[in-house]
Amino acid sequence: MIEYKGEQIRHQEAEYFDFEKEVFMKEIITQISHGMYVLTTIGGGCIVDAVCQISSGEKPLISISVNKTNYTNELLHSQNHLVLAILSKNVDGNVIDNFGFHSARDYDKFEKIETFEVNQIQVPKDIIGYLELEIEDRIENETHTLFIARYVDGKTFKDDIEMTYNYYREHKDEFVKVKTIKGETAWICTICGYVYYGEELPEGFLCPKCGVDASLFQKME
Ligand SMILES: Cc1cc2nc3c(=O)[nH]c(=O)nc-3n(C[C@H](O)[C@H](O)[C@H](O)COP(=O)(O)O)c2cc1C
Repeated sequence: MIEYKGEQIRHQEAEYFDFEKEVFMKEIITQISHGMYVLTTIGGGCIVDAVCQISSGEKPLISISVNKTNYTNELLHSQNHLVLAILSKNVDGNVIDNFGFHSARDYDKFEKIETFEVNQIQVPKDIIGYLELEIEDRIENETHTLFIARYVDGKTFKDDIEMTYNYYREHKDEFVKVKTIKGETAWICTICGYVYYGEELPEGFLCPKCGVDASLFQKME
C-alpha cells in the first residue's frame, strides 16, 4: 500500500493514477498557446514554437527554447545573432517540412527555399515578418537551452493571420507529408518527422530524435 492524495491505495491503482496524471499533464500543456516561427542563424535554422516575450520597453527580451539535439542549438552556442521569422496560417508546407523535419547536419536548408538576407542571415521569404535578435544569455536545462535574446530590429510584410502551434497540430496533414516505404506499416513522429517501421511501437517507446512518447506518433498503413 502507498499513500496517494492522503489515501492508502494499492500499488496497481497508484500506477493507474500516475498514468492518469501524465495524460492530464500532456493535455493541459498543449493548452499553453504558442506561435510558429522559423529561427535562422548563419549556417542553419529550425522551426520553433517555444517562444515568449519576457520583458517590455523599446528593446524587449524574447526567450526561445531549443532542443540540445538540434544542430541549430549547436550553432547558437558559437554565435549570438539570429532571426525569428513569423509564419502565417497560409504558409507553404514545404517551409515547415524543410526547417522542422530535417537537420542542417544532413543538408543545406537554404537550397530549396526562397530566402532573403538580414545581416548575413538567410530568412525564408514566405513569412508575415521577422524579428532580428541578439542573444544575451543561455540557460541550460535537461533537454533544452533557453536562449534569452534582445530585440534589435524587425519588419512586417503581410497583413496575414499568424499560425499558432495548436492550429498547426489541427491541420498538420495539410502542411506536412512525410514519405514512408510503400507496403510497410510506419509510425511517424508528428513533432520531428522520425519514422519507426513496425506493426506496433515498443512499450515505453520514446522518439530517438526529439524524445516525445508514443501518444505523439501517428500510424500510417
Ligand atoms: C511544429 C513544430 C514545432 C517545433 N518546435 C520546436 C521548438 O520549440 N524547439 C525546438 O528545439 N525544436 C522544435 N521543433 C523541432 C525542430 O524544428 C526540428 O527537430 C528540426 O529538424 C531541427 O533541425 P536542426 O537539427 O537543423 O536544428 C519543432 C518542429 C515542428 C514541426
